[in-house]
Amino acid sequence: MSAQIIAGKTVSDQLRVEMVEEVAALTKQNVIPGLAVVLVGEAPASKVYVGSKEKACQQLGIYSEVHRLAEDTSEAELLHLIEQLNGQASINGILVQLPLPKHINEKAIIDAISVDKDVDGFHPESVGNLTIGDDSLLPCTPAGVIELIKRSGIEISGKHAVVIGRSNIVGKPVAMLLLRENATVTICHSRTANMEQLAKQADILVVAIGKAKAIDSQYVKPGAVVIDVGINRLPDGKLAGDVDFDDCLDSAGFITPVPGGVGPMTITMLMKNTINAAKRANG
Ligand code: GUN
Repeated sequence: MSAQIIAGKTVSDQLRVEMVEEVAALTKQNVIPGLAVVLVGEAPASKVYVGSKEKACQQLGIYSEVHRLAEDTSEAELLHLIEQLNGQASINGILVQLPLPKHINEKAIIDAISVDKDVDGFHPESVGNLTIGDDSLLPCTPAGVIELIKRSGIEISGKHAVVIGRSNIVGKPVAMLLLRENATVTICHSRTANMEQLAKQADILVVAIGKAKAIDSQYVKPGAVVIDVGINRLPDGKLAGDVDFDDCLDSAGFITPVPGGVGPMTITMLMKNTINAAKRANG
């Protein structure tokens, strides 16, 4: 039997329709959610991402500002801008596009963002709140993974979830969110022994390792939910996930494609965080 394909674009479009209404209701109360995106330098991929964020804001009626700074901007100058945005009432969310140029300390910048405006969910206090279970802005890609699973009608509670990858931006937070949803969670990484054996026990398998097609059907229990967070560029220019999609299609119960799976959810969840931050600031 062939797996059901989880169409991230369709779920993302549904969420955006709901959000247009949410923003319209807030606007009636004179609350216009606002997002500031800061881009330092000229990295082509980052410019594309920033453009997509700007477009999503326009589509939903969210106010946006993009601060495009030169590659040689100093850390002090960037910190000064963040201080200014922290105090700016029209801005509810601040996103500093990563990676930053090497002469800027990324941690110092993330730490300087007000936790109330931390729409990336990367600030240590946001990470702490996520772990404790307190209400906080959730990191966008992990939150998108949970939303995709839930909106596909899949129950998380009581399931064995295996996360492959332990990065601060995906693996660790997605494991915490799955735990919050009452899954039993195993985290695998590059030093894990018997990874195949562990992965094969998963009802829900989330893969975020950044290695094209590394996970094939040998890692997948028949009927499992397979969520592929990887986006890798192949030598022929095509995109591929961390999961060998074609090989897993017969064994998985549900599977996300790349592109068109988790990817479209990230910016949508950023919009959701901006709306939630605006509600809190005015609630
Ligand atoms: N660069 C690539 N992905 C992201 C992201 O989710 N947030 C930020 N700030 N930078 C990124």
